[in-house]
Parts: sequence; structure tokens; C-alpha cells
Amino acid sequence: MCGIVGYIGTRQATEICLAGLKRLEYRGYDSAGIAVVEDGELEVVKVVGKLAALSQALDETPLDGSLGIGHTRWATHGKPSETNSHPHVSNDGRIALVHNGIIENYAELRDQLEDQGYEFVSETDTEVIVHLVDKYYDGDLAAAFRRAAEELEGAFAVGIICADHPDQMIAARRFSPLVVGIGEGENFIASDMGAVREWTDRVYVIDDDEMAVISRDDIELTDLKGEPVDREPYVIPWPADAAQKGGHKHFMHKEIHEQPRAMRECLLGRLTDPERAITLEGLNMTDEEIRGLRKVVFTACGTAYHAGLVGRFLMEKLARIPAECDLAAELRARDPVVLDHTLAIIVSQSGETADTLVALRELKEKGAKVVSVVNVVDSSIARESDGVVYIQAGPEIGVASTKAYTLQILTIALIAAHFADVRGGTGEHELIELRRAMLSLPEQAHELIEREDSVKSVAAKYYRCPNSLFLGRGVNLPSALEGALKLKEISYIHAEGYSAGEMKHGPIALVEPSLFTVAIAVKGDVYDKMIGNIQEIKARSGPVIGVAFDGDTEIPRQADDVLWVPECPELLTPITVAIPLQLLAYHIADMMDREIDQPRNLAKTVTVE
Ligand code: BG6
Repeated sequence: MCGIVGYIGTRQATEICLAGLKRLEYRGYDSAGIAVVEDGELEVVKVVGKLAALSQALDETPLDGSLGIGHTRWATHGKPSETNSHPHVSNDGRIALVHNGIIENYAELRDQLEDQGYEFVSETDTEVIVHLVDKYYDGDLAAAFRRAAEELEGAFAVGIICADHPDQMIAARRFSPLVVGIGEGENFIASDMGAVREWTDRVYVIDDDEMAVISRDDIELTDLKGEPVDREPYVIPWPADAAQKGGHKHFMHKEIHEQPRAMRECLLGRLTDPERAITLEGLNMTDEEIRGLRKVVFTACGTAYHAGLVGRFLMEKLARIPAECDLAAELRARDPVVLDHTLAIIVSQSGETADTLVALRELKEKGAKVVSVVNVVDSSIARESDGVVYIQAGPEIGVASTKAYTLQILTIALIAAHFADVRGGTGEHELIELRRAMLSLPEQAHELIEREDSVKSVAAKYYRCPNSLFLGRGVNLPSALEGALKLKEISYIHAEGYSAGEMKHGPIALVEPSLFTVAIAVKGDVYDKMIGNIQEIKARSGPVIGVAFDGDTEIPRQADDVLWVPECPELLTPITVAIPLQLLAYHIADMMDREIDQPRNLAKTVTVE
């Protein structure tokens, strides 16, 4: 996904833009560029490659100027190349623009603009925007963008500067995230607030079809018709270094270790005493609506989808409401039937994943009530939902989602337990015990982090294996899918998550010494069957890593190695089981010297379909 940063103030814009782009590196990119305005001229430097290449190019061609915009590009239209990278510039070299999103009618606009004499140098959709602005520009840059925006279809977050206006930066958005950082005598724009947190903790979150006209001392927010918009600044709750590694080798490692604290914060204000009901500010559902629910539909992508799969289980077991969970891209493809009194629960860390956002809109259009479980405050998914329950995980930078996953499950568990309470589908005593167990999770997560070295020693035995199988049943089938995804996305080892019950219908053909199997066998409804699976694999010389409750005496007899987890209600084990599997994937990838925070071909948030 692309990253945007802009600066207007008294300091060197290139310095600020480079630092801001660095904080957006996690989004994944293949090229980068910066433009600045100085002494009535616009200067641009662009490279293919990482920010180090841009920094070196800037050393060779220094850009002086206190107004500038920067961009990291993740190619959607046109291959990674210098001409395709942003900023894109008008033919007269006076206007520069950076963009995140996709202009769906760019081909038609390009034809029109070329017929009108505008020359294109790139293959990108973005370039049509800068020529359209230039077409309408008559000295008023904001007015020119407003007219251009009337012709744009699709998603955009843009930053625009012009050599004629050394005191002005324009920012605007439609479906792609953008914030305005509020400084003293200086102001910023960025794709997300983590990029500007070093310089300010106050931002305006620009809403869809809104724009900002920004000078050094003023920020004017309007809609795309020029009508003023009244918006309170959002104060970023986490400290400036929260988006830094804090001494950890990788963001992913830091975020795995943050889970105990993050779980405490997720529970704060919602569940403090097991004898008392859960309160969920932001859910925006009356008890009557909850009692009237006839179905719950979860939808998400990637790791968030696995959290949704656990959520489906929790919703049916606790609240006794029929539930399903579908991949966002698949849900859209099947034109789902949505009955009355259906609740859609949208799960997303970033709140910006395109497939998930479109699935939300489709379910909403079909009459579902929409509640989202997201991490990023004021994200697009959050804003388009009827209710939002934030997971309170703090910024998650590592591309492979870890703390967001366990907190998504915990948040959904809070919702399901609340529904059970309201609907009376589960006994009062059972609910009290469940709430008590939820309150113990932060301490259990801490205990699991303490066991990291034992997980690391298991990783050392298996990191050379080219193939792996993760097996689970029931509420831990999603744990198996997630464990496999974690391993494959950062180590590039082929890892397949599978229902253990399906072993005899195919996967058992894969078993051999070079394929290791992780079998999730915590005590519960499917424990005996999991032991059977482990025995089948061992009988075919396949190495097995068991995941078992502390004190279990059978699993160590059956498996080659064991990852131990503290005992808790089976329904909550996807949260505890996730942590040793995250650490296993992390240490295997680290022993293979992988780029763990930015795995090849992956991006933290995919805002294109
Ligand atoms: C992928 C990320 O691109 O998107 C995953 O690499 C993530 O970690 C998935 O689970 C969905 O993203 P989000 O922000 O909607 O949870």
C-alpha cells in the first residue's frame, strides 16, 4: 500500500518527509520520491527501491525547501520504475502530487486529457489527477482540485503543492486514509498518524470527500464543494516511541511481547469484575436489538479472518445465535442473502482493507446492522459501521499480525459474552467463570512470553524443514490456520493449516520426516481425537510438535516436542495457543534471516482490491 507524507513549516521538508516515510515503510513499497518548493521552483527526486536509495539520491541532489511532499509506492498500475513513482508533476513542472488509492476511470480521463494536449510520461492512474488539476488551475490550487475531484471515480488520498504557492499544501481524501498533523508554525499530512507522531500528538482525521488547505499557521477543512467542516483534533493516545522497536530486533517481536499489556487495555472499562456485566461503549446496540438477532455474519481478510472464524464459534457456543464467517473477497463473490435481524461483524486491524470495506458496504446495503472490531481509530471501516468496538492494541507495525489477532478474538469474546448475558443463552455461573478466565488472560499471556526460550529451542529443531502442517479441530481449527499463515508469511516455509478430522481425506499423504506437524491438543471436546491424529502421523515417521495444557502427561508421550499453554476454558484457548505459535514462526524466520517486519510481496494493509 502507498504511503504519503507532507510538510509545511520552517524546517527542511526533505528531512521531515524522509523520516515520515520511514514510519510508513511497513506498508510495503517498491519506489519512493519527494518534491519540494523553494524560491518559486518545484524540485523532484524519485527512485526505484527503498528509502535508502532515495536518501542517497537526495545526498547527491539536495532539495532545499520548507514545503514538500513525499511518497512510497506499492505498484498497482504500472511496474515499479522511476517514471511511475510519485510525486507526479504537471507538464509545466509547477504542480506536484502524491496519491494513494485507485482512480477507476483513469483510462477515459487520460484519453480526454491527451486529446486536450496534456503529455503523459507514466503508466499510472495517478498522473491523470495532476494533469486534471493543472487543466483547472487558474491560480487557485484548492479550487482547481475541487473541480478535478468532480471527475474522479475511485479512491484517493492526495497531497498537492505548487511552485506558485510556497505557503500552501492541499490534502484531500476519498476512501483512502489521510490525516493532517497539527504543529506550531508547521503542519503535516500523512497516510496514518504514526508517521507524524514524532512531531505532534494532535491530528485532524480527514473524512471522505473532504480536503484541507494547509499553511504554516492555519488548517482550513472543507468538503469538496468548499463548505467549511467543523472537526475536533484527535489526540493520539500512544507515546511517540510507540511506533518504534523499543529495543526489540523486529516490530513483530515487540508486538508479540506487547500482548499482555494490550489485553489489559482491551479489557479496561469493559470487564473489571467477573460478577458484573460487560459494558461495550461504541457497540451501539440496544438489548432489544441483541435479543432480536437471528444471525451473525463475520467477514475479514487474512489473520483477521481467522479471528472471525473463532468469533463464529464463540457466538454460537455462548450467545446461541446462528453464525457464519466468510472471507471478504468470497462473500462479495456470492451475493449473500441477508435475512432481517442480521448483524455483520467486520474484523480488521487497519480498518482500511479494500475487500473488507467493500464487503461491509454490501452487507450494509442488504440491510445488515454493522459492527466493526478494528484497531485503528477513525479508520474507514470504523467510520462506515453502525457501531465500533476498538481492540485497543496500539499501533501494529509488523506486517504479520500478532497482537491485533489475539485482541480481535478477545474483543469478539467480550461481545459474545455480552450477547449471552443479554439473551440469557448461557447460565449465569458459566458466564461468571468465563469472565473470570478472560480477566486471567493478560497474566497467562505474560507467562507464555516468559516461556519464549523453550519455544526458540523447538524452532531450532525444525527451521530447516521445507514443509509443515498445522492441525486443529473445533475452536482451534482457526488456530491451526493462523499458525500456518504466521509461519508461511514470514519464513516462506510451505505451511498448511488443516482440520485434523480431514487428515484421512488427503493431507496424510504428505506425511514424511521432512514435514513437521503442529497438532493443537489442549484438553477439551476434541482432545482424544487429536491424540489419534498424532499417533497416525508418528506411525508414518512424521515429526510432531504438540500444543498442550500445562501438566498434560499424554501428549509428551505421543509427540516429539510440546509447546505448553496454561489451562483455560477451551473457548479461550485460541488466544493462548496463538502466542507460542507466533513465537515459533518468529524464531524459525529469524534463524532463516528473513525480513520479518516486511516479508517479500506482502503489505501491512491492502487498500486495493
Ligand atoms: C494483510 C496483512 O495484508 O491484510 C495481514 O498482511 C492482515 O496481517 C490482512 O491480517 C487483513 O488486514 P486488516 O488490516 O484488515 O486486518
